[in-house]
This record gives sequence, C-alpha cells and structure tokens, in this order.
Amino acid sequence: MSILMDARIPALSNDESERPAMQGSSRRNFLIVSSAAVAATAVGGVTATPALAATTGTSPGIGNFSSYPFSLGVASGDPLPDSVILWTRIAPEPLMIGSGMPNRPVPVHWQVADDEAFTQIAVEGETFARPENNHAVHVDVRGLRPGRWYFYRFRCGSELSPVGRTRTLPAPGAPVSSFTVTHISCQNWAVGYFTALKYMAEDNIDLAFHLGDYIYEGAINGVVRGGAYVPDTIRAACRSVDEYRLRYSLYKTDPELQAAHAAYPWAIVWDDHEVSNDYAGGVDHGPAQLARRAAGYRAWWENTPTRVDPPVGPDERIYRRFAVGNLVQFDMLDSREYRTADNDPLISKLGDEQETWLIDGINAYDTTWNVAAVGQQLGGVNANSPTRNRIYEAYYDRGVAPVILAGDLHWTIVSDALLAIPDASSPVVGEQFIVTSVTSTGDGPGSQATKNGWLKNPWVKYVDGYRGYIRSTFTPTGVYSTQRDVQFVTRPNAPVWDAQNFFIDAKKPGIQLA
Ligand SMILES: [Fe+2]
Repeated sequence: MSILMDARIPALSNDESERPAMQGSSRRNFLIVSSAAVAATAVGGVTATPALAATTGTSPGIGNFSSYPFSLGVASGDPLPDSVILWTRIAPEPLMIGSGMPNRPVPVHWQVADDEAFTQIAVEGETFARPENNHAVHVDVRGLRPGRWYFYRFRCGSELSPVGRTRTLPAPGAPVSSFTVTHISCQNWAVGYFTALKYMAEDNIDLAFHLGDYIYEGAINGVVRGGAYVPDTIRAACRSVDEYRLRYSLYKTDPELQAAHAAYPWAIVWDDHEVSNDYAGGVDHGPAQLARRAAGYRAWWENTPTRVDPPVGPDERIYRRFAVGNLVQFDMLDSREYRTADNDPLISKLGDEQETWLIDGINAYDTTWNVAAVGQQLGGVNANSPTRNRIYEAYYDRGVAPVILAGDLHWTIVSDALLAIPDASSPVVGEQFIVTSVTSTGDGPGSQATKNGWLKNPWVKYVDGYRGYIRSTFTPTGVYSTQRDVQFVTRPNAPVWDAQNFFIDAKKPGIQLA
C-alpha cells in the first residue's frame, strides 16, 4: 500500500537473538510510564515533558510548539510478518480546528527498536505530517522480523512522543502455539470512562480488534463524563470533515484509549457511527449523506493505524485478510459501506463484491482457525438472514468452522453459529462472539428480561449486559476466551472481573462454557 513508505530504511541490526518475553514487572513498568506520559499530555494547554530523552538531533524548521504535539498518543496496526503501520498525529491544540498546526508539512522522525530504551534501533526514518491529512502520520515500516515485539516512537522538532509497543505476525505458515486477541466495540466517550481499555492495555494481548463505533458522531448534550469540558465546536453533530476530526481528537485525548493503543497493535473496522446512525451505504446515496460519509471516512482513515489507502470521496475499501502463521486466518469485514438494507429478503449486508471475496477466500491460508471480524453480525441472533445463510453454507461446504467476532449490540451474546437459524436442529457451523460495548448504554448489567429473551434461543450460550471486552487465545487444539466485565463506566476506576470463560474444541464446533 502506498502509505508514506519511507525509502531510506537502514539495514537491520545484526542481533538476531530473541528478546526475552515481556515479563510481568517489565511490562507493567512500561505501561505505567506510557500511561503517565499520555495522561500528562492529555491536559490541553500544558506543555508536557516527554518521558524519554532524545537520542538523536532535532529536525530543523519546527521550533517550539505551544503545547506537547503528541497529545493524541501513538498507535500501531495491521501487522504483517515483516511490517506494521505506525501512527501518530501532530496536534499541540487537539481541540481546535487545525490542531494548532501551521498549514504546511512538518518533518517527523520515527524509530523502531528492539528494546524499550531504544539502544538497539531496528529501523528508523523520516516522513512528513501533512496538513491535508490533519498532520496525521502513517508509516508503513518494512524489514522487521516476524513474531517479535518492538518499541517505537516519533520525534517532531525537539519533542518526543510516548513510546508504543508493537508486534509483528509470525512468519507465513510457521507453527504457532498460541496467539491472543481481544475484541471491543462501541466506545461512546460522552457516556462514560474507557476503564475497560485500561484493563485491556494491561492484559497479555498480541493483537486487538476494534469492531466499530470508535466514535459516536451525534450531538453531545448536557453534562458528560462527570462534567468534563467539551467546547461547543465539538458538541455539534458531525457532518463536515473538521467536525469529525475534532470528534476523533476528543476521543483520542483519552489516556486509557491511548494506553491500549500503545500496548500492542490494533486492527480496526468501522460500524455505523463513524458516519451516521444505522446508515446503509449500498442504498443511502443522497448527496448530503455521501458528503457526510466522505468526511467520516476521511477522518477515520486519518485517525486509525490501518493498512488501507486513503478514501476517495465516499469510497474506501477496508475489508482485508491476513494470517497468523499456520494458526488463524483473519477476515476483517465491512458491514456498512455496501449493505442494502435490514430485514429485506434481498438483503445484502456485505455487498456482492465483498461477499464473493469472503467466500472465495475461505481457504486463502492453510490455518487451523478461520475468524471473521465484523462490526455488525451477519444476521439477527434469532432470525433468518439470506446473507448469513449464504456465507455459513459456504463455510460448511468447505468443512471450515468459522469463529465470528462482532460488536454493535451493546450486549455480549456468545452462541453457536447454526447453519439455518432459527432452526435449532440445524448443524453447528462455528461460533459467534458478539462483544458488549466499552461504554455505550452506560452501566451494566442491563435488563434481565432482555437477557432472558436472548437465552430462550438454545444456540445462545451466554449473555452479559455489563461493559467490557473479550479476550481469546487461539491454540492448535482449542480457543480459550474470557468475557471481562467492568462494574460501571459512569465513574472512573471501576473494578474488573472475569465474568465467564469459554472453550472451543478444534475438533468439534460449538461453545463450551468453561
Ligand atoms: Fe454502538
């Protein structure tokens, strides 16, 4: 992909020895430093001191910023065996249009190191933060070694970013004994605190999936988040690109979101609220909606560490596929841009082209597991769905049992994936983990009557209305998943607990409560 690839990547270090695995104490120390650094910078108007000293000279022409320019932290995403996308945005005044930046490109130096102290630099280079991208930076780092943790940071002028940690995927086809992912969705900043992300940042994760509603585009009214100050320019419902950009800025000043991004790479797809509530991109083609979609997609691309080209107007292909050695194939799906409608017998939730791509690629990699990660599930929990029927039949015909990861509902609903829902006697094709929200709908546990309603379906094995995240460890013989709940989100510092463990046997599809 053509994302600001730096042509001047130096040779790799000759040190081929494996870095020791992150142990509890060193990992915890790193995360505390990282969180403290980003928390300090999240306060507008205060010049923060970077946590680490510069190891190289300063770039010319930047001068001093009015405030710490890395106020939105750092992120990495869409790893490959030799590559990862690094992200930051230069924003000394993140809650102002233009972020307090001059209308010209500014040079940004980046470094990837084997160690947290940056004594062993693996790759480094220089790129530009450009005003047309709201001074966002995407670096497609190449030449990395597979299956390894790395540390990265940026420098702009004399200012250093917080340090992020990232991990490359194992070599293609390589035997992998264990790979741990998490999946989340629906982080409404105004509704509450991203406490689940704080715990997720401290968890042992190789790759995080965000399955949409990274922002909510609607108007922000009244008192929010314990009385946090939100400028009027950011409260209006998002329609223009500047409004979406400001909304991302507001969200990305959150220290817990920054900590989770800095802890490991993410792979992100959108749902509806990155543009507008419940839109169906395959049919919502009014000029105002298309302009809004173009603005939303643009700001999404600028603010996520995603390995896709920038959108062209209202068009952006985000569905994509990668594999973790011989263990898991991941298909990242878009359930919004191409869908035609809901509750229509002719419904296409993915659009013909994406659906064909998915089905044709079911065996793209020779892996033990196949995962489809999607914002909104392919059909209702207890209703027939033509799109889902076609896709599940394709998996079933090929003898592949998919694990579906989804979000959107603000409930965790873990179920067997049946060939012909709601026919309870139809074969189990795979499993589905719909994850609850990070904050949306506020404090759990939700309505018991609603919960009981889902549980009446015999294929539904578990329902949870707290906020939280799901962590899943894939191994050659089984998947071990855990629903982690936080007690509340309307106040900070909620406790977390393991609400339920799940197991999937590689030899027999179906959810087992463990
Ligand atoms: Fe949502």
